[in-house]
Amino acid sequence: MQTLHERSERLLKERISCLGNHGFNFVFLGDSRGRGPEDNCFTMSGEFELVLQKAVDLDPLFIIHGGDTVFTGEKKYLEDFVRVVKRIAKDIPVFVCVGNHDELPIPESNLANFRATIGKVHWIIDVLKFNFRTIAINNIISPGNKIYGFTDNELNYLRRQLMTSPRQTVLAMHAQPNIGRWADLGGFPVDTTQSHIFFDMIQQHGVKKVMVSHVHAYDEQFIWKNKDGTFTLGQGTDFVLSGAAGAPLDLEPPLILNDYSLAEFFVNKELITAPLLWRVTGTPRRACI
Ligand SMILES: [Fe+2]
Repeated sequence: MQTLHERSERLLKERISCLGNHGFNFVFLGDSRGRGPEDNCFTMSGEFELVLQKAVDLDPLFIIHGGDTVFTGEKKYLEDFVRVVKRIAKDIPVFVCVGNHDELPIPESNLANFRATIGKVHWIIDVLKFNFRTIAINNIISPGNKIYGFTDNELNYLRRQLMTSPRQTVLAMHAQPNIGRWADLGGFPVDTTQSHIFFDMIQQHGVKKVMVSHVHAYDEQFIWKNKDGTFTLGQGTDFVLSGAAGAPLDLEPPLILNDYSLAEFFVNKELITAPLLWRVTGTPRRACI
């Protein structure tokens, strides 16, 4: 069976061939955590359907889902996610980062179900006309033990991709760094050797955005790693957290946006804009229990 990724690559090619000279938009959303088809709707009350429909209405060149598509990475749930996406995003490519809930909750990484349904774990979106590239990486080390960060293999992969990347590069991955307002939200530690290598790499290569999910909220932080290993916030790489696409919202301070949401970006030859936050409210079309 064709994976969601294979379908998305085909659709992307078609859509890129129709691109004008002015630029394009794309959407980043994450964390839907569906448990269909056992629930009536994909998420408890159909919120993912609403968010995805809003994303489709924006007619983006592509949509990126930052991971945690489902509650646990059993094949039947992942298959249902793919079905829902194909139904709502008929002509729009949807690319997916792997999240901790997309795997079974065991200590070892287990990606067979993800690969069989959604498809590739590591992928690239290239839009040559606008000198643009998205690189997706996997920063789930142990889904069962909630350990996030970067293996040496992952860093080597990222290094190879960045070496050949064009000027406008963005990165997509699931878990966020434990820093600033996100210090206690269960992401990856920033004080490990591997994390330092990660920050050095994205800074050296001038990565323009890092898109993360995992926290069911919306936020943005600029993060700069100094040479002595300390960090300065409010300058540096633009980290955009968008993880409010259907999973129960995280409403504890400091992240208190009380709506499901998605982030939209516009790209032209010179720049990638700041994220445009869309708050999504409404009633699902179907009554869900
Ligand atoms: Fe997560």
